[in-house]
Amino acid sequence: MNIGIIGAGNVGGTLGARWARNGHTVAFGVRDPNSTGSRELLQKAGSGTLTNMADAAKSADVLLVSTPWAAARQVIESLGDLSGKIVIDVVNPLLPDLSGLILGTTTSAAEQVAQWASGARVVKAFNTIGFNIMADPSFGASRALLFYCGDDAAAKQTVKSLAAELGFDPQDAGPLRQARLLEPFALLWISLAYGQGYGRDFAFQLLRR
Ligand SMILES: NC(=O)c1ccc[n+]([C@@H]2O[C@H](COP(=O)([O-])OP(=O)(O)OC[C@H]3O[C@@H](n4cnc5c(N)ncnc54)[C@H](OP(=O)(O)O)[C@@H]3O)[C@@H](O)[C@H]2O)c1
Repeated sequence: MNIGIIGAGNVGGTLGARWARNGHTVAFGVRDPNSTGSRELLQKAGSGTLTNMADAAKSADVLLVSTPWAAARQVIESLGDLSGKIVIDVVNPLLPDLSGLILGTTTSAAEQVAQWASGARVVKAFNTIGFNIMADPSFGASRALLFYCGDDAAAKQTVKSLAAELGFDPQDAGPLRQARLLEPFALLWISLAYGQGYGRDFAFQLLRR
């Protein structure tokens, strides 16, 4: 699969490198492809290309949007025509001190992203756990829960496969408006990690019967 990473920091770098190591064709879209950090990332990934964000988007079937919320609109609107592409939105619209969300309840970052990425098939995923868990979602025999949501069934199936191959337990949370719940859910993880002494090395699990 051709995957474009839009913002290759903690999240984009981790997921992009893992997908590249799994054999996908990954284009890392960064602000400065010549920076030391960018070159180190490519070395870590073992394969893939470093390019600007618009070029990474052009060649991709699947785009991971992993910039801070404050940059998301400008970045997405600079990417050109995204019609038909799958856009995985990991962005949490966090207040700078991580104490809450800038928007929520009546809309979500994912729904805003869907407006900016006109014609794209947006799936909210990978936003409810830390990037360190993205590097390794296995806990003994258990796998970290990964909720995703979106309005396009085929796009969700693709994202489910991309999450499962990394070792997650992907679970469909419903339509894109469910991001109104998945974004506050990310805050629970953040508050437990940083405010309640859990640290970053934990994940949620779904039990059913
Ligand atoms: N960190 C986590 O554990 C985690 C977990 C779930 C979801 N998220 C969400 O994932 C997103 C990324 O988080 P992160 O921790 O990966 O952040 P990060 O390490 O700071 O990486 C952000 C990336 O966005 C780029 N960027 C920043 N401002 C930009 C701008 N104005 N224009 C273009 N590119 C810009 C950065 O480029 P440069 O390298 O050039 O600065 C960097 O590649 C956030 O929305 C966050 O809420 C994070």
